[in-house]
Amino acid sequence: MSNSSPRHFLTLLDLTPNELNWVINRAIELKKIRTQGDLYEPFRNRVLGMIFEKSSTRTRISFESGMAQLGGHAIFLSSRDTQLGRGEPIEDSAIVVSSMVDIMMIRTFSHTQVEKFAAHSKVPVINALTDDYHPCQLLADIQTFVEHRGSIKGKTVTWVGDGNNMCHSFINAAKQFDFKLNIACPDGYLPNAQLMADNTDRVALITDPQAAVVGSHLVVTDTWASMGQEDEKISRQTAFADYQVNPALMDLADPQALFMHCLPAYRGLEISHDMFNDPRSVVYHEAENRLHAQKALMEFLLLEPQV
Ligand code: CP
Ligand code: NVA
Repeated sequence: MSNSSPRHFLTLLDLTPNELNWVINRAIELKKIRTQGDLYEPFRNRVLGMIFEKSSTRTRISFESGMAQLGGHAIFLSSRDTQLGRGEPIEDSAIVVSSMVDIMMIRTFSHTQVEKFAAHSKVPVINALTDDYHPCQLLADIQTFVEHRGSIKGKTVTWVGDGNNMCHSFINAAKQFDFKLNIACPDGYLPNAQLMADNTDRVALITDPQAAVVGSHLVVTDTWASMGQEDEKISRQTAFADYQVNPALMDLADPQALFMHCLPAYRGLEISHDMFNDPRSVVYHEAENRLHAQKALMEFLLLEPQV
């Protein structure tokens, strides 16, 4: 470990475009290494601490398996079972936990909690989803696009649905990977206004999903009610009724368009029952690529390659 302050990955803006492209290319290489059955274990004796204050299937399994495959070890820390859940200050937790592990991953509610942890951590901290951002998912999504269609630079992506943490990360991705992003969200559910204002050169709000997807190379959606918004499920179903992604909507996009969803997905709500297995859907590829992309990210943060 170097003596300088560690690099963190709290949003996509924490890495340069060049570094992000290194991670994507490395993810594709690591996927090959695994497919060939080759052993690659640079993380012997390295430990990943994983704090989860929200549920997870993909994120937990991809980080835990990824660390094991790279020869290291991962510790699952639930706020229910640690002193974090009993109110131990995040600053104290960061100092203590980061003195014992080599790298940290945190999934929580408030983005400032992750920022506070990182500010006091001696080791790299990865944001594994907050209410505001989900940057790890974007690494997997960009890898998936590259594998299916080549570079995303200069392409058009349309986000349909809630202006949530995933939408915010797509805005950052538009900047870092240099693509155009149309955003179709109903009134009252728009993304962060400052983030939109900071990216007017690449990001356009087109409220009508039918108009937004025209010419798009990628259409993306997510649940209408994110974790922590369970009480709003019913009111959101009314507000988002016209924002379902289905084959008819996809037919208005570019003929080569792909469909993505970070999962978990709710068929009959944000996607139709027949969208999941539509030939344009790459949702299972995105899910698998969480493994490869995060292994590449951990390599970047722990081994500090010359990029
Ligand atoms: N996409 C995603 O982050 O899934 P999990 O909530 O299952 O980790
Ligand atoms: N927007 C969703 C993403 C889940 C992976 C949520 O925050 O619940």
